[in-house]
Amino acid sequence: MIPQTVRNLRSAVKNLRIQGCSNCLYKRFSIMPSGQKNLPTRYLGQPSPFTHPHLLKTGEVTPNLTQIEYALRRHKLLSLIQKEAETLGSSDHAIILLSHPTYYMTNDIPFPFHQNTNFLFLCGFQEPDSILLLHSIPGMSLPSHKAVLFVPRRNENRELWDGPRSGVDGAVALTGVDEAYNTEEFSQYMQRFKDEGCTFWYDNESPVHSTLHSDYLQPLVNIKAKSMNAIKPVRTLVQYLRLIKSDAEIELMKMAAKVTSEAMSSTMFATISPVNESYLYAKFDFECRARGADLLAYPPVVAGGNRCNTLHYVKNNQLIKDQELVLLDGGCEYSGYVSDVTRVWPVNGRFTEPQSELYQAILDVQKSCLSLCTPGISLDNIYAFMLNLLGQKLKDLGILQEKCQHDAYKAVRKYCPHHVGHYLGMDVHDTPDISRSIALQPGMVVTIEPGLYIPEHDTSAQPRFRGIGIRIEDNVLITDKEPVVISADCPKELSELQKILNCL
Ligand code: GLY
Ligand code: MN
Ligand code: MN
Repeated sequence: MIPQTVRNLRSAVKNLRIQGCSNCLYKRFSIMPSGQKNLPTRYLGQPSPFTHPHLLKTGEVTPNLTQIEYALRRHKLLSLIQKEAETLGSSDHAIILLSHPTYYMTNDIPFPFHQNTNFLFLCGFQEPDSILLLHSIPGMSLPSHKAVLFVPRRNENRELWDGPRSGVDGAVALTGVDEAYNTEEFSQYMQRFKDEGCTFWYDNESPVHSTLHSDYLQPLVNIKAKSMNAIKPVRTLVQYLRLIKSDAEIELMKMAAKVTSEAMSSTMFATISPVNESYLYAKFDFECRARGADLLAYPPVVAGGNRCNTLHYVKNNQLIKDQELVLLDGGCEYSGYVSDVTRVWPVNGRFTEPQSELYQAILDVQKSCLSLCTPGISLDNIYAFMLNLLGQKLKDLGILQEKCQHDAYKAVRKYCPHHVGHYLGMDVHDTPDISRSIALQPGMVVTIEPGLYIPEHDTSAQPRFRGIGIRIEDNVLITDKEPVVISADCPKELSELQKILNCL
C-alpha cells in the first residue's frame, strides 16, 4: 500500500493499472470523446461549456480539467482501495465523500461557498449539500465501479435567492458521473449496502458536513460500527493522489503563481509611504481578481513594522510608518488551485542597513533551499538544512552567540519557529496527512519559505535588528531535472525591489 513506503510515489500512482471500467465513462469516452452531448442549455449551478464557452471547452468539468481527468482520478482511487481491499478480503465497497455546507456569516447572510477539496478533486461538482458515492458493482472486481452524485433538488424559491442549481440531469451531463439523484434519496439508494460484507470508505471521525453526516451517514455508521473493518478512512488515500499533479493541474498551478506574482509586483509598485496595511491588502486582492483569480486562497498577512513578527497577523489595518518594512504573505485561488508567496519591502523604497543585511541573509538561505528541491530529498531534509544555514547567518550577523553552539537548533527556532515549507495544490497547506519526511517526487509542488523574526522586545538581539521580521516564500514544481520556481516572476532581489519601488 502506498502510504507505507513512498519511495517512488509518482510511478506508483502513474503505474496503477487503470483498466477501462465496463461501467463508467473512462471506457465510454474512448468511444465518445466529445462527451457532454446532453448538456442542458440553461444555467447550471456552476459554469458549463455551454453557458461559459469563454471559460470551459467541451468535455471540461472545471477549467482545464476534463471529464476524463476526473474519471481517471476516481479510477486511481478505486485502484488504491483495491490494493487495501486485498488485505481485508472484502469485495463490496462504498466510498462516500461529502461536500461542504454553506456557512453563514450572520443570520441569512452566507459566506461565499467553497467546496470541500477532496470531494471537488473527485468530481468537480461545485454545489453544497451534495454526496459523492463510488461503489463496486456486483460480479465485477475493482477498479470497475459506479460513480453516483446526490445533489440538491431544484427549488424555484431557493434558486431565487442562491442562484441556479444543476439538478440531477445537469450534474450527470456536466461531470460525467454515471447517475445522479436528489440528496434526500441517498438513504434509499444505500439500503443495498447495509449488509455486513460491504466496506464503507468514509471519514467518520472528521465529517466535513455535520448535517449530511447526522441525517444520512450516522445511521449507516451505527450499523457498520458493529463489525470489524467495516468503516475505513478515505481522506489520506485521496491526498496521495492529490500530491502528484497532472499536466493539466500543473498548468493551473502555474497560472495561480503567475497571477499572484504579478499582483504582488503591482502592489509593490503602488506602495507610497506612509501607507495603511488595508490599502496594500485591497490592492493585492484587486490585482489578483482583475487577472482572473476567483478569490484569495487565504486571508493574507499584510504586516508593517514589528507586526511582521506575528506569524498569523491578519488584522491588516494599521498604518505602516516611513522606514518600516511591510511583509505580504498572499496567494490567489485560480480555478481551484492556489499559490502562496511572501515578499517583504520597505514602504519608502529604501532598505536601512540592518534591514538589507537581514534580507540578503534570508534570500541567500532561500536560494540554497530552492536548489535542493529535487527528487529524493524530503521537505524535512531541506528544513534541517535551512536551520543550519540560518544558524550560520545569525552568527555572521552577530545575533546568535557562539556559545549557543550546543543547542543551536533551539536557538535558531526561536527566530524561525516554522518549517521550511509545505505541499501546495488545491489547498494552501495541501495534503496535510502526508508526512514531510517522504521523498519529493516529480509533479509535487511545494513552498520554500525561510524567515527570521526579531521582535522589538527581544533584548538578546542587537537593537539595530529589533522589530524586523522577514520571510521570502516561493512556489516550486519538482521535476526530473532542475526545480521550477513557478512564482519566479515575483521580484525578490534587493536591486529589483529598489527599481520597482522607486519607479526606475
Ligand atoms: N501563507 C501560509 C503559509 O505560508 O504557510
Ligand atoms: Mn506557505
Ligand atoms: Mn505563505
